[in-house]
Amino acid sequence: MNKKNIVAGNWKMNKTPSEGNRFICDVKNTVKDIHCTEIIFFPASTGLVDIQLDNPFHLGAQNCHWETSGAFTGEISIEMLKECKVEYILVGHSERRQLFNETDAIINKKIRSIQTYNMKPILCIGETIDDRKSGLTKDFLKNQLVKDLEGIDSIENLVIAYEPIWAIGTGETANEEQIYNAHGYIKSVLKKLYPDTNNCPILYGGSVNTKNAKELIQISGVDGFLIGGASLDLDSFISIINDVENFRR
Ligand code: PGA
Repeated sequence: MNKKNIVAGNWKMNKTPSEGNRFICDVKNTVKDIHCTEIIFFPASTGLVDIQLDNPFHLGAQNCHWETSGAFTGEISIEMLKECKVEYILVGHSERRQLFNETDAIINKKIRSIQTYNMKPILCIGETIDDRKSGLTKDFLKNQLVKDLEGIDSIENLVIAYEPIWAIGTGETANEEQIYNAHGYIKSVLKKLYPDTNNCPILYGGSVNTKNAKELIQISGVDGFLIGGASLDLDSFISIINDVENFRR
């Protein structure tokens, strides 16, 4: 009842710093009386500088390197992100896994490093369409969770985003039963791995939009959304925030 839902906007490689700044100001000026929802913006790295946010608004980064510093051309350290007041960092997004060859071992290193800075990783997991069709969704999700969290003692600050790959950017949302089952299964795996932890939020992501947000947030086990396309448009993002806020558990 008192746990806040999360609405996270992953802008991917969209919006220049000035466009992003204006967008955040517009959201801040329009959305009022938010008490039950945490809103997180994930700009590109260039848009993380000089962003001033207070509750219920938070800043997230789309990526990080696990090392503290060094000869890693093009990479950004967690310390650099922390100085920008970043609180959340996306890890294991399917685009990073597929387009940039991020392995579970790399993802595991990132989560460990993020935790040493007391920041919050949002670990994205989700099956391919082939795995779903072959009835391997649960195996796939379990495998990702076990490998990505290997050797990690606590998931106190962890958020999971369940994002079936076939639903990302396709306009094809997972249905209620698929989401309910996947979230319940993820929760049960986490319970086995971390018997003392009950409150790891599980977000749904994959073609969330203004037409489906109201229904999706009502699914038991859904603690919010990770939104790509619809987070780029002011009216859409605000409408989804209001749908989530107005839903009282
Ligand atoms: P989408 O993206 O909302 O555009 O499907 C979701 C994501 O990639 O996190």
